[in-house]
Amino acid sequence: MKLFPLASGASIPAIGLGTWQGSNAELSEAVKCAINVGYRHIDAAAVYVNEIGVGQGVKEILAQKKIKREDLFITSKLWNSYHLPKDVLPALKSSLSDLQLNYLDLYLIHWPVAYQPRVGLGMAEKGDDYIPLSKIPLRETWQAMEQLVSLGLVKSIGVSNFSIKQLSEILPHAKVPISVNQVENHPFLSQEELIQFCHKNKIHVTAYSPLGSPNKPHEFKIKGEPTLLQNQALTEIAMKYSATPAQIALAWQFARGLSAIPQSINSQRIEQNFGAMQIKLAAEDMKKISALNINHRYLDGSFWTGNGSPYSINDFWHASA
Ligand code: A2P
Repeated sequence: MKLFPLASGASIPAIGLGTWQGSNAELSEAVKCAINVGYRHIDAAAVYVNEIGVGQGVKEILAQKKIKREDLFITSKLWNSYHLPKDVLPALKSSLSDLQLNYLDLYLIHWPVAYQPRVGLGMAEKGDDYIPLSKIPLRETWQAMEQLVSLGLVKSIGVSNFSIKQLSEILPHAKVPISVNQVENHPFLSQEELIQFCHKNKIHVTAYSPLGSPNKPHEFKIKGEPTLLQNQALTEIAMKYSATPAQIALAWQFARGLSAIPQSINSQRIEQNFGAMQIKLAAEDMKKISALNINHRYLDGSFWTGNGSPYSINDFWHASA
């Protein structure tokens, strides 16, 4: 298994199973399938409301005694409703309870967006469901995340969907390093500048939606957007390696030093995606894939900006500090 070192001293496996959108029953089966295929990294989140299923799958695998808890790398994420420092530990404990675990390998602040606690594990519907970051600065939430490491409940901490500007707000204050920034990343959104910034600051980058999120929910669909896995150049490169476009998109990430968490609840595709780690792309093909970048976000953050929200699209994805 290919591993990337983290600033915390731990290591993250290059491929992880993404778990957004599946039901508890689907995830329980998918997690067992993935671990049996060789995955050791599972990416969960409280807001996916399927951590019970993920935990069930992990529990059943561990009960077979072939794999130990310390062989696995399990991530969860702090939802927007729990950014207040006093809410961070209870939110983690709730995920640990659902996952039936006594520690996480990685806990991430899911989005640089805060909700009122009453929203719970849902989506804000109106302006006063949100709390502006001026009222709960990200670095205060970060300090509460650091406490989780001191308590031994989490091995590494990080963030997700953070821009260079948002990372720069925390970096000078971080007593525990930001080990990971998990962001959307694929050949249509290569984010070279963000990755360079992260690597310079010893922040590992994990690519979510590495396949271009082909089955995202209807409310996130953007009219007329391109389909990554049908891209002609990617398909041609795939043929050259007797691989699939999905495998090529993943192999490209591993070669750039990113881990990737493709979602799947289908056993063949779970196995196919794992096979991407065997593919070594030639430098010319790496270049061709990188040239596909069109800065296209399948999840662009606009869903945080409607109905009187205090957040605007300018609050996301800043290219510089
Ligand atoms: P399924 O669960 O039916 O396999 P992303 O990780 O970019 O968000 O993409 C996840 C979506 O892509 C899932 O809905 C998944 O559907 C589908 N998927 C996963 N692996 C592959 C693959 N190798 N080829 C095509 N589609 C895939």
